[in-house]
Amino acid sequence: MHIDCIFYRNGSSMPQMNGKTVIVIDVLRATTTMTTALANGATAIIPVETISEAHRLAKSDDVLAGERDSRLIAGFALSNSPLEFTRSAVNKRTIVMTTTNGTRVMQRAMGAATLLAGALINAKACGWAALKFKSDIILLCAGAEDHFALEDGLCAGMLIAEMREAATAQFTLTDFAAAMEGAYLGYANRLNEVLLTSDGGKRLSGIGLQEDVLFCSRKNTHSAVPVWRDGAMRPFLW
Ligand code: MLT
Repeated sequence: MHIDCIFYRNGSSMPQMNGKTVIVIDVLRATTTMTTALANGATAIIPVETISEAHRLAKSDDVLAGERDSRLIAGFALSNSPLEFTRSAVNKRTIVMTTTNGTRVMQRAMGAATLLAGALINAKACGWAALKFKSDIILLCAGAEDHFALEDGLCAGMLIAEMREAATAQFTLTDFAAAMEGAYLGYANRLNEVLLTSDGGKRLSGIGLQEDVLFCSRKNTHSAVPVWRDGAMRPFLW
């Protein structure tokens, strides 16, 4: 089993995904929010690229969610804040979601044999779920507006560390994946501080969303793992 880690830049060519497990990572905040939504009872999350696509696909019962410039989109019920995805807001609902980076990158990974969403809050569960498919793994960091995002790299490193702990498989790492594991091990005990001072963390804190950053920096608080099935991200069934 081989583990690669890449970060997506608009227009960059994607690696070959055929037969592979791809874990999309957007810690601040799309994949943290998707995990929270499923943990709070959402049935499915349909990730789309544009606002008009979201309007077109949403049925009358569905919840429109997402952000532009990290803020609520006019006419949408929820933004991209995991704190808004409470049980009363999402239980038994389908969510149609569009975000600047996370859902766009997810669209680029549809060629994967298995598509999962990973975050710090579900890294252990997500790593363990990925191992079940016994295929090569690509950790696909969404970044922010074509820039590498530290929190995504650290999450990739944490996923590797968790998979190593599961010890059910031998795996090899690309150099970048090995670097992310090393970075994670160096920062593991102060992720909240690191996220708050990261570019994305400072940006979100600057518009009053510091609580979101703190929520997103927690480790292994959730066991829900979003997996692509029947046209949407749905809970991984253990
Ligand atoms: C995204 O997917 O672009 C992000 O999660 C951005 C955000 O939540 O502000």
